[in-house]
Amino acid sequence: MPRVAQTTLTQHILHNQPQRFRGALSTLITQIGVAAKMIAAQVRRAGIIEVWGETGEVNVQGEEVQRLDRIANDTFISVLEQSGCVAAMASEEEDDWLRVPAALAGDYLVVFDPLDGSSNIDVSASIGTIFGVYACPSRPERLEDVLRPGRDMVAAGYVIYGSSTVFVYADGERVDCFTLDPVVGEFFLSRPNLRIPDTLAMVSANELNEPYWPAWTRGLMGELKERNRARRALTGRHMGSLVADFHRNLIKGGVFLYPVDSHNKRGKLRLLYECNPLAFIARAAGGADTWGEGSVLDLAPEHLHQRTGFVVGVAEAVARAEDWYARERRGELAPLAPPAAPRGER
Ligand code: AHG
Ligand code: MN
Ligand code: MN
Repeated sequence: MPRVAQTTLTQHILHNQPQRFRGALSTLITQIGVAAKMIAAQVRRAGIIEVWGETGEVNVQGEEVQRLDRIANDTFISVLEQSGCVAAMASEEEDDWLRVPAALAGDYLVVFDPLDGSSNIDVSASIGTIFGVYACPSRPERLEDVLRPGRDMVAAGYVIYGSSTVFVYADGERVDCFTLDPVVGEFFLSRPNLRIPDTLAMVSANELNEPYWPAWTRGLMGELKERNRARRALTGRHMGSLVADFHRNLIKGGVFLYPVDSHNKRGKLRLLYECNPLAFIARAAGGADTWGEGSVLDLAPEHLHQRTGFVVGVAEAVARAEDWYARERRGELAPLAPPAAPRGER
C-alpha cells in the first residue's frame, strides 16, 4: 500500500512552518520526536520487558508512580537536556522545576506530562505524553519564571502510544498529525492541518463522578443527553487517558469535561502540563476550552502542579458549558447538596 504522505516530521517543520519554527525550535520539536520514539519502543514491549507495575514511589501529587511513568520522565528529561535547546523544564513527575546546566542550556522552557493515562498502562490501552513550549530568552532563576500563563506558549503537542504511535503538534496557527512507521523509525505526516469538526458527535466524562458534580455540569450533561431523545446524534466515549480522549475528540468532534467537583475541589487535571497544551492545540484546530468562565490559557498559575476544572473540544459544546456555568453563578440553578466526599478532598 502506498503511504498517505511521504513528508517526515523534520521535513515538515523545516519546509512548511512559519519563520519562528526554524532554528532552535525546530530542533527542539524534532528532539521531542526522538524522545517519543524511545518511549514508544518501551511501551511496545510492556509485558515482555519489566516495565509494567509500580515503582513503589508516590509522586508529589500523591499518586503511585508506575515504572513507565519513571522511564518516560527520565527519557524526556535526558533528551531535552542533551538537545541544547532547553533552559528549564517542569514535569508532572518532578516535585520542583529543573534548570538545565549552563553548558547545555538553550532558549526554551518545556512543561510536560511524560506519561498520561497511567492507569491504562497495565491493560494495554492508549496512553500518551503531553508537552508545552515557551520561549525563555533569559535564564530562569526562580519558580516565578516558570509559572507562565498558557497564552505565552509558542508550541504544544502530544504523543499517543496507541494502535499506532502518533505525534501531534500545534504552532498556534495550525495542527499537524504524524504517524510513526515502526519499520522505518520515522514520523510521517498523516493528517495535515487538522481541524476539529463543528458538530458535536461524542461526549467524554467520568460519569460515575455525577454525585460530586456541580449543578452546571449536571445541567450541561442533561442538555446533551436530551439531544439524543429525538434522534441518536451523540455517543459517550471515555477512556480515562485524557490525551487519548482528546485525540479522538479532535478527529471525530467531541467534548471532554472534568469539572471541579465536591471530591476534587480544585479539579483533577493539572493546568501547566495537561490542560494548557491541550487547550492551545484545541484552539489552533478551531475548537475551544474553558475552566467555566474563560480559557485555562488565561489563568495565572501559582503552583507548578496546580489543578483546574477543564472542558475542551468542539467550540459549540464548550460555549454551552460556559452558559450553564454562568447560570449557576447567577443563582438560576437549584443548589445541590452533594454527598460528603468519602475519599477525602484531593
Ligand atoms: P496521569 O496518568 O498523568 O496521572 O493522568 C490521569 C488523568 C487523565 O489522563 C484522565 O483523564 C484522568 O486522570 C482520569 O481521572 P479519573 O480516574 O478520576 O476519571
Ligand atoms: Mn496526566
Ligand atoms: Mn502522567
